[in-house]
Amino acid sequence: MPDTFPNCATRPERPRVDALPEPGADALAHSARLQALIAEEIAAAGGQLPFDRFMELALYAPGLGYYVAGARKLGAAGDFVTAPEISPLFAQCLAVQCAELLEALGGGDVLELGAGSGVLAADLLQALASQGIAPRYHILELSPDLRERQRATLAGRAPDLAARVHWLDRLPEGFRGVMIGNEVLDAMPVHRFAIAGGKVLEGGVIGAGDGLAEAWLEPFSAGLVDAVQSVERAVGPLPDGFRSEINLRLGPWLQAVGAALAAGAVLLVDYGYTRADYYRAERSTGTLLCHYRHRVHVDPLRWPGLQDVTASVDFSAVALAAQAAGLALAGYTTQASFLLATGLDRFLGASDPEDVVRHLALVQGAKTLTLPGEMGERFKVIGLTKGLDRPWSGFAFRDLSDRL
Ligand SMILES: C[S@@+](CC[C@H](N)C(=O)[O-])C[C@H]1O[C@@H](n2cnc3c(N)ncnc32)[C@H](O)[C@@H]1O
Repeated sequence: MPDTFPNCATRPERPRVDALPEPGADALAHSARLQALIAEEIAAAGGQLPFDRFMELALYAPGLGYYVAGARKLGAAGDFVTAPEISPLFAQCLAVQCAELLEALGGGDVLELGAGSGVLAADLLQALASQGIAPRYHILELSPDLRERQRATLAGRAPDLAARVHWLDRLPEGFRGVMIGNEVLDAMPVHRFAIAGGKVLEGGVIGAGDGLAEAWLEPFSAGLVDAVQSVERAVGPLPDGFRSEINLRLGPWLQAVGAALAAGAVLLVDYGYTRADYYRAERSTGTLLCHYRHRVHVDPLRWPGLQDVTASVDFSAVALAAQAAGLALAGYTTQASFLLATGLDRFLGASDPEDVVRHLALVQGAKTLTLPGEMGERFKVIGLTKGLDRPWSGFAFRDLSDRL
């Protein structure tokens, strides 16, 4: 099976063939330290870890995980590129939605979950300031390394507004305002499962000689079989040999988000599908992908700590868990529809074609953000609210909530 491909600026759906560039000696030593830590935890757990715990260590082990250690990660010099990095149009459109929600709330703050390089924070603050809105901007960031990068980005890109930004270690209490998370859900650790002989098997990680291996085991994570059965009740029986992922952390996370939000909205953007599409026969090997220097492959055990490991989002599960957490569904649509409904073409139209380089970059960015073969259809936007019952402009063109 082909398993890697080059030059994927954004997040392609499938891997393709290409060799991965070999990491340097320091990077390999770093990965070996993380692998040793994972092997110790496997031994302490009796010989196996659920995949979500492996993924949590690979991405977030203190000082060693992919998101918390010093590698570049996002951007052209990193492993993948996200929407705010592609074009400021993304932040400008999100700012339109944010401004509308903050106005309906009579004020409030913005809280960004997992702020990456800090580009969205800088551009969103600037776009809001151009509308005369200057909210406090909180960033909940698990990675000390990314916090530093965010500070530097804000200082360089929005120096007059950088003082409005505060970093948080955990969700606040009694938050009023708008929470935003771009590509946060896909970075949450997931469980893996397979169907064999009509039964559920769990994808675990075990020790194998000096390394790690994946194994399909009798389910040993609480709640996994129930969760798969609940998927099957919704989409019908999954066939033998079907493998996929399921995010058992989504419910507790949305409970915490719902509890933190006194009043306002949550706007989440990510790649994913409705439940029916997620567990479709054509995705019978799941959605898990790994990103390393703009190559995409399917081996999560390769070089732990050096590569991103990610799974697509089941947006039906997001909507269900949100409603159980006391959040109302405001809308669900494609990234293209959301950006067009919040004025992407208007912002593009205001760009000066005589400023050729900037103008062409904006045109190219708009294409990448909205074309169906790029990010336009595979990336979705979901809006959730508490105590704020009003239509969102972003869902005015095409609300697909009834498909969830
Ligand atoms: C793929 S990056 C996206 C970064 C940025 N939002 C962007 O669009 O460029 C995923 C980010 O989500 C963060 N993250 C994952 N789980 C999180 C959680 N439970 N709370 C807050 N941030 C989280 C990671 O630390 C990482 O910064």
